[in-house]
Amino acid sequence: MERENFGSKFGAILATAGSAVGLGNIWRFPVEVGKNGGAAFILIYIGCILLLGMPLMLSEFIIGRHTQSNATGAYHRLAPGTPWKWVGRLGVFAGFIVLSYYSVVAGWTGKYAVMAIGNQFAGAEPEALRTMFNDFASSPLEPLVYLLLMLVLTHVVVVMGIEKGIEKCANILMPSLFVIIVVLVVCSVLLPGASEGLAFMLKPDFSKVDGSVVLSALGQAFFSLSIGLGCLCTYASYFKKTTNLTNTAVSVITVDTLIALMAGFIIFPATSAAGMPLDSGTMGPELIFITLPHVFQQAFAGLPWLAYIFSVLFFLLLIIAALTSAISMHEIVTSYMKEEYHMSRGKAALVETAGCVVIGTLCCLSFGVLDDVRIMDRSIFDFCDWIVCEFCMPIGGILISVFVGWYMKKQWVKEEITNGGTLRVRLFPLFIFILRYVAPVGILLIFLDQFGVFKAI
Ligand code: ALA
Repeated sequence: MERENFGSKFGAILATAGSAVGLGNIWRFPVEVGKNGGAAFILIYIGCILLLGMPLMLSEFIIGRHTQSNATGAYHRLAPGTPWKWVGRLGVFAGFIVLSYYSVVAGWTGKYAVMAIGNQFAGAEPEALRTMFNDFASSPLEPLVYLLLMLVLTHVVVVMGIEKGIEKCANILMPSLFVIIVVLVVCSVLLPGASEGLAFMLKPDFSKVDGSVVLSALGQAFFSLSIGLGCLCTYASYFKKTTNLTNTAVSVITVDTLIALMAGFIIFPATSAAGMPLDSGTMGPELIFITLPHVFQQAFAGLPWLAYIFSVLFFLLLIIAALTSAISMHEIVTSYMKEEYHMSRGKAALVETAGCVVIGTLCCLSFGVLDDVRIMDRSIFDFCDWIVCEFCMPIGGILISVFVGWYMKKQWVKEEITNGGTLRVRLFPLFIFILRYVAPVGILLIFLDQFGVFKAI
């Protein structure tokens, strides 16, 4: 039976950009910018994207497209009988765990969109918003309903297949996301008092930069581009042989970075217009679910209808971003189950969804009734996030760069990147050099930093 492919090159770019653009861009990026000194962090982040993100994304594309196989099967084909297949397995495992806890937060964005539509933030003070969020997140039933809803939506799209499900969905959702984000940026930067927020994003202050800022930028680049999760490799296995991998990587990275910057241009100008501090470093759920509903009310004080529309659009934006990423993470495991265990797409997707319901439920309840359960001193949710972001992604990244840089035949790598010699890629030697030396060492530094083995450059 012929393997499915994306129907068009543009659809492939939109779907892959949808995989990269997610809560990491709209939630995690502004938090990191706030914590790490604004514009200087942004410049370092862009440097990390270009130096490490681009070669690693391209490497995953090469592995996936060359083998036309799921994340684990790809390594098995390229290095049969060797332990390299464990790199693929690590990606599949990471994708499964991320989807489980990511869907919990995606569910929260669903609830907050409903609340925004019901105008429930109007007039609420920060303390009331905090109570609202804590009551919701810790309740034993409601967040589970939203979690299930998000997983079912993701499941339905994945079951519909690559072209008719994932690509079609990306073709609708990604342009919608772009329109919404442009509207929100324009509204935000035109607010009286927005200039301080704009300056925070645009004027670098390098005095705050130290080694840990550089390492945070590197970690954010990884999360945002979904490196080491198996998504990029799996999606590339559906690219056509004529797809230009370098151009696709450049397009995806440009969209991902633009969306992250635009999220910053929504949040910081609105925050300064609301007269609130820009670098408070409000971590985790706090920024999106407690601080921002208040910021939007304050920033548009006197224009309540605009505050209403702004809040509704913002939470819709989050749902769309979360959904397109969730779909790609679901597809990693679905394609793995389908191809390695010879299941139908529907059955493979069902196994993945059922697994995510179980782990997602545990993560969800860890904000309430399972609050006391600790694994290595962390809640279940935090443990899942920790295991993926601090183990699977960096280890996966190092192994992928070593695999393509040192193990895979150079001729195969070149054939993929030049589409069998039909494209000129002048920077090929630089690409190999980065994969062999710069990427493994750079990522090793992030990895060691997590455990305090290595501190600050
Ligand atoms: N890359 C995805 C995100 O940014 C996981 O949310």
